[in-house]
Amino acid sequence: MALDRDPSAPLSKNVHLLRWVEKMARLTKPDAIHWVDGSQQEYDALCDQMVASGSLIRLNQDLWPGCYYARSAPDDVARVEDRTFICSYSRDAAGPTNNWEEPFAMKRRLKTLFDGSMRGRTMYVLPFSMGPIGSPMSRIGVQLTDSPYVVVNTRIMARIGLPVIAEIDKGDKRVVPCMHTVGMPLTPGRKDVPWPCNPEKYIVHFPETREIWSYGSGYGGNALLGKKCFALRIASNMARDEGWMAEHMLILGIEDPRGEKTYVAAAFPSACGKTNFAMLVPPKGFEGWKVWTVGDDIAWLKPDSSGRLRAINPEAGFFGVAPGTSKKTNPNAMASLARNTIFTNVALTPEGGVWWEGMTDEPPAECTDWRGNPWTPEIARETGAKAAHPNSRFTAPASQCPTIDPAWEDPAGVPISAIIFGGRRATTIPLVYQAFNWSAGVYVGATMSSEKTAAAVGEVGKVRRDPMAMLPFCGYHMGEYFRHWIRMQRDFSETPRIFHVNWFRKDEQGGFIWPGFGENMRVLRWIIDRVRGRAVGKETPIGWVPHYEDIDWNGLDFPREKFDQLQYVDRTAWKTELLGHEELLIELHDRLPPETVYERELQICRL
Ligand code: GTP
Ligand code: SPV
Ligand code: MN
Repeated sequence: MALDRDPSAPLSKNVHLLRWVEKMARLTKPDAIHWVDGSQQEYDALCDQMVASGSLIRLNQDLWPGCYYARSAPDDVARVEDRTFICSYSRDAAGPTNNWEEPFAMKRRLKTLFDGSMRGRTMYVLPFSMGPIGSPMSRIGVQLTDSPYVVVNTRIMARIGLPVIAEIDKGDKRVVPCMHTVGMPLTPGRKDVPWPCNPEKYIVHFPETREIWSYGSGYGGNALLGKKCFALRIASNMARDEGWMAEHMLILGIEDPRGEKTYVAAAFPSACGKTNFAMLVPPKGFEGWKVWTVGDDIAWLKPDSSGRLRAINPEAGFFGVAPGTSKKTNPNAMASLARNTIFTNVALTPEGGVWWEGMTDEPPAECTDWRGNPWTPEIARETGAKAAHPNSRFTAPASQCPTIDPAWEDPAGVPISAIIFGGRRATTIPLVYQAFNWSAGVYVGATMSSEKTAAAVGEVGKVRRDPMAMLPFCGYHMGEYFRHWIRMQRDFSETPRIFHVNWFRKDEQGGFIWPGFGENMRVLRWIIDRVRGRAVGKETPIGWVPHYEDIDWNGLDFPREKFDQLQYVDRTAWKTELLGHEELLIELHDRLPPETVYERELQICRL
């Protein structure tokens, strides 16, 4: 189906935007320019075009209505942290946890790379709003990209097109310019491929000028620039300057059987359970309880005029990890992705459906794996080949989630009563504990750690410090970021309580001690009860923990000894843990807030 308008006709009257688009077109030299209006007709036309070119496969529409499948290049499968740069004016402003290069030198290099980079392709002008259009907490960007895959994915992940242009044309909002190219110009004689990209990659942020330039990748957070680049790295800079917080957090609401609702936000590193937690289904024994989903990856938090911390989800869709997602572990994600979803790097079944490890108990007898090779359970047994890439993902509209909160698009956001930090740790870290107060909680967040996952290129399983799950996403000096957290408390009339959880502690046999998923509700209930002043806790050197009796065990037979094992605070292991805190804090020492130092000393005293 063709468009019934001329896509090259500018949709905006904003002269700054028009001039910038012209200037960037002169640099990148595309064959055509397409202003994205965000309509269904346009989405369908782009998908048709990608199906025709081989970039997308239309799934069996009887099984997967409105769904498409994409397979990336085998070397473009995850975020590239070593190619991600924060190019602030001074190296010190980016801090030791970010890659830095001198911004003018970097801009020159990027301009060379972008020169002619869109030859033979269409440059899409993609206006997007992070946050509901018109919310005072929302922010606007325009991405110029030569990837139609990015356009259709962004239509699911963010609010795009004409309503955003209308906001821009009001002329009173700052627009974040986002440049993106896959870096594979179609010079004469060069044939296109289903997933164009470049072995050389640059994911670059200019925090002072609020600009993003991304070169060479078409995948996830490297290419959907509204997500990690804007809503975290650039937004964290805006938030510091403007008195709010941009965090790698899910947002959920818990409704108890009497209808009382409590919202919490939780920061877990990539592929550590945010999407699953955000869509939790209360287990047996929790009849009458409901968990509502506001967001699964990013939260923007700001105290309102009365000092209540409120959060919006800046996104409109889920870019969720496929492997492990099933009707059993996450039925709400399965319902969300049942239609109008784009799958990337999962396996394709002979019926024209999708499959991934963990989706069903029984694997299909045969399928085509994420690389396009034949896959059978026998081949997997022999070679260890995965049908789906461990970082394969679904892009699904949040509105399709059965538990989407009625207030998920409330421009004022939802009130946050607790903040939960969590990591993937096989040892030492208990299932749950509560920090003594805000500054102790900031210390807990600042020193959290997790085993690395497939969400980023690199060694999987290695424990690293990942403060507030923001190590790859904080767009400025981590020490300043902790100061900002400390400072934020001044604006709260009611300080959110801070907790730490670990669903991933293992026993001697290497199995998870805690069943996780829906059963996490029991931990959540204790958290809510603590927030509301209803639950008892026991003081330990690291914080408050529940007694066995403080957890609601209704519907689950979980022995006291196993719980004690999960909650065990091993003083020797914790002393080693504290030495581990140093490995990052020592790098940040000249910018750390004094509270970090005091909290550390207090913890040493308590141990
Ligand atoms: P990003 O989208 O990368 O930010 O990931 P995420 O934090 O949303 O993680 P997600 O919920 O997609 O979970 C990642 C992996 O952790 C999946 O393989 C899940 O099956 C697994 N997981 C999630 N929750 C639990 C849990 O409670 N227990 C255990 N054992 N595994 C879990
Ligand atoms: C993450 O890695 O935390 C993600 C996926 O949510 S990506 O959008 O690729 O960053
Ligand atoms: Mn994430």
